Amino acid sequence: MQNKTLNNKRTNIQAPIVEALKAYYNNPAYQFHIPGHTRGLGTLPDFRNLMGKKALSLDTTDEFDNLGTLTPATGPIKEAQELAAQAFGAKETFFLLNGSTIGNLAIAMGLTKKGQKVIVNRNCHRSILTGLIISGAEPLWILPEKFEDWGLWGNINPESVEKLLKENDDVSMVWITNPTYEGVVSDVKSIASICKKYNVPLIVDEAHGCLWNFNDKLPETSLKLGADVVVHSLHKTGGSMSQSSMLHISENSKINADDVERALMLLHTTSPSLILLGSLDAARANLQSVRGQKQLSQAINNAKYLRAEVDKMEHIHQLKSDFGYKTDVTKIFIKADGLSGKRLESILEIDFGIEVESASDAGILILSNIGNKRSDFEYLAECLHKIDIHDYKDIYYLENKKHMPMLTPIIKKSLREAYFSEKEVVPKSEAVGRLSGEVVAECPPGISILLPGELITEAHLPYLADYNFIEVIK
Ligand SMILES: Cc1ncc(COP(=O)(O)O)c(C=O)c1O
Repeated sequence: MQNKTLNNKRTNIQAPIVEALKAYYNNPAYQFHIPGHTRGLGTLPDFRNLMGKKALSLDTTDEFDNLGTLTPATGPIKEAQELAAQAFGAKETFFLLNGSTIGNLAIAMGLTKKGQKVIVNRNCHRSILTGLIISGAEPLWILPEKFEDWGLWGNINPESVEKLLKENDDVSMVWITNPTYEGVVSDVKSIASICKKYNVPLIVDEAHGCLWNFNDKLPETSLKLGADVVVHSLHKTGGSMSQSSMLHISENSKINADDVERALMLLHTTSPSLILLGSLDAARANLQSVRGQKQLSQAINNAKYLRAEVDKMEHIHQLKSDFGYKTDVTKIFIKADGLSGKRLESILEIDFGIEVESASDAGILILSNIGNKRSDFEYLAECLHKIDIHDYKDIYYLENKKHMPMLTPIIKKSLREAYFSEKEVVPKSEAVGRLSGEVVAECPPGISILLPGELITEAHLPYLADYNFIEVIK
């Protein structure tokens, strides 16, 4: 077991997995175990050179006593989860490999049962649908606000949650996504108090909000506002490595954390990557450190700077907080008059060497990250000013292709029943009028175009431009 008092010197914050990995690296043993590449010697030399000997030497799993285990959590991994729980204000935190996806699967599997009703927002991530297919719980769909001018889903109205709870006295939980991918924030406090009134747990997929706890200029985290379980994709904006996320159980939740843990144990790999776990530990420690706090303040200031620049532009507009909803300032969604989001994205990429987070029909999403410098934003603003005064033409309008699924689904069969029905694959031209047998969702944003059991209509076709065949129910 590692000594809890060991500190990461650079930040003066404890990071037990990082310390354990340092000790592991500095005390190499003769290795007769997995991974068989044995510190990178058993792989392509080009790959070894690219990755570096050190990174490959640290590629290990939780089989060695001094590193601890993930399930059940022991040693430095347990300590790191406890430190994360303290940092995020949770009763218990689980580290996740395979992203927030596995968190959502474990929530569905651990907390819902076949036939139970779960209130879910229509624009949820596909992993929630997969979870419900596994458990057999039935979604009751809430339709959030639609921001038609922006081609985006907006906030969830607390009234729409209450209406569904009033109409259905057998709802087992409410599961919402907050914020949206583009940073639109719902009134979670009111939704949480409605859930308390009806005595149902509130689960929040806060995949895109993991920084909120670390700066009071960002929205309040759902853990503080009364959610029972919250999932955070630390790898998205928190500074950890791709695929690493966290699942938190709140202090006052009546949810049995063991139910979630048991599901995680079934779903998780039995060879967890210590590099990914260490990156979660490092990301949390960094966010708590003076350095991390400065980086986050800088990310907020950079976002404000860019927003002020966009305000000076004539043809480029940004999504801002409005009456009824708030936004996360670090997620900047902009659109340009006469250009689709996809076209704007390609202009930035091809003409200016800039890659943004995502593009949809109407606009593009820019993230102000803790790793960005002010000069990045000065360059971006300069390029946007050039686009603003240049007469670019849109080629994407000609394609009649849509990207952000905004349709209200017509559901004819339950998710699980539809998913496990007999199916056939038909050419897209024959799919209209049939029921989808699969989840069709492009990432980003991972919002479904089609759900199993959903009636396929003409309106779906612009979203399916890249598909030749669709799996339908026989
Ligand atoms: C709202 C939401 N939830 C969950 C996920 C899944 O997260 P991960 O990529 O960490 O598995 C995503 C991914 O984009 C998402 O947008």
